[in-house]
Amino acid sequence: MHPLLNIAIKASRAAGCVIIKYMDRVDGLTITSKGRNDYVSEVDRQAETEIIRIIRKAYPQHGILAEESGPGKEDGTLDPDYTWIIDPLDGTTNFLHGFPQFAVSIALVHKGVLEQAVVYDPLANELFTASRGSGAFFNDKRMRVSKAKQLEGALLGTGFPFKEHRYVDNYLQMFKSLMLQTAGIRRAGSAALDLAYVACGRLDGFWEIGLKPWDLSAGALLIKEAGGVITDFNGGADYIRKGNVVCGNHRIQQAIQQAIHPFLTPGLD
Ligand code: IPD
Ligand code: CA
Ligand code: CA
Repeated sequence: MHPLLNIAIKASRAAGCVIIKYMDRVDGLTITSKGRNDYVSEVDRQAETEIIRIIRKAYPQHGILAEESGPGKEDGTLDPDYTWIIDPLDGTTNFLHGFPQFAVSIALVHKGVLEQAVVYDPLANELFTASRGSGAFFNDKRMRVSKAKQLEGALLGTGFPFKEHRYVDNYLQMFKSLMLQTAGIRRAGSAALDLAYVACGRLDGFWEIGLKPWDLSAGALLIKEAGGVITDFNGGADYIRKGNVVCGNHRIQQAIQQAIHPFLTPGLD
């Protein structure tokens, strides 16, 4: 296993321990709001601190972009080629409600290319990993995206645009169109885990508006290494910056992209 991936796994498991430790004590947690429908608790912060501690110990020169603490200090001592992208707890709202769907997401970008990825579900003890060029793994077993050929019969995942309401109407039109063409749509509440589920074939495809780099970087590499395709709404590669993603095996990615196309408006691509 690549040493960088090894550190990412170690960090994700340590964060998982923090998350599990607090699971039965959610009522006593200090919760603050970062914005509309956007909450953060001391669990998110502690899990993030733990991840950063482990990464810094192994790779003190690497840059870090973590959800709760933002970009690391660019004081000239850091190696600009390496950046770790961290979501210490993806699915905070679920966690705070005791809804058992949340994960740790850690990716490493080298010179702008996604190289390593871990998504870890600490409750189910499910570990999804990938190193670029070496395939994707689910608890040490090779994983592949589903073989679904068409939307008919497919199970899709999605996320609701609940923080930024600008595109709610576009989204609802997309949702209606896809709901009428598929076997079902799930909104489980952790984008990182949704993407991992596409990578291992539990979901045939997924789309969401307005994700952040820490929600989707690790999941994106999982999907690519599992033989899938992930793009922005126009089929382009700029999905991390735009935050709008469509993914699945190549047929399903194409089919979702076509289905949502009529509902795109300027700025939503
Ligand atoms: C959220 C989850 C959710 C997605 C949101 C994300 P958080 O992450 O991934 O599924 O719909 O857009 O912000 O805030 O729980 O880390
Ligand atoms: Ca997140
Ligand atoms: Ca988070």
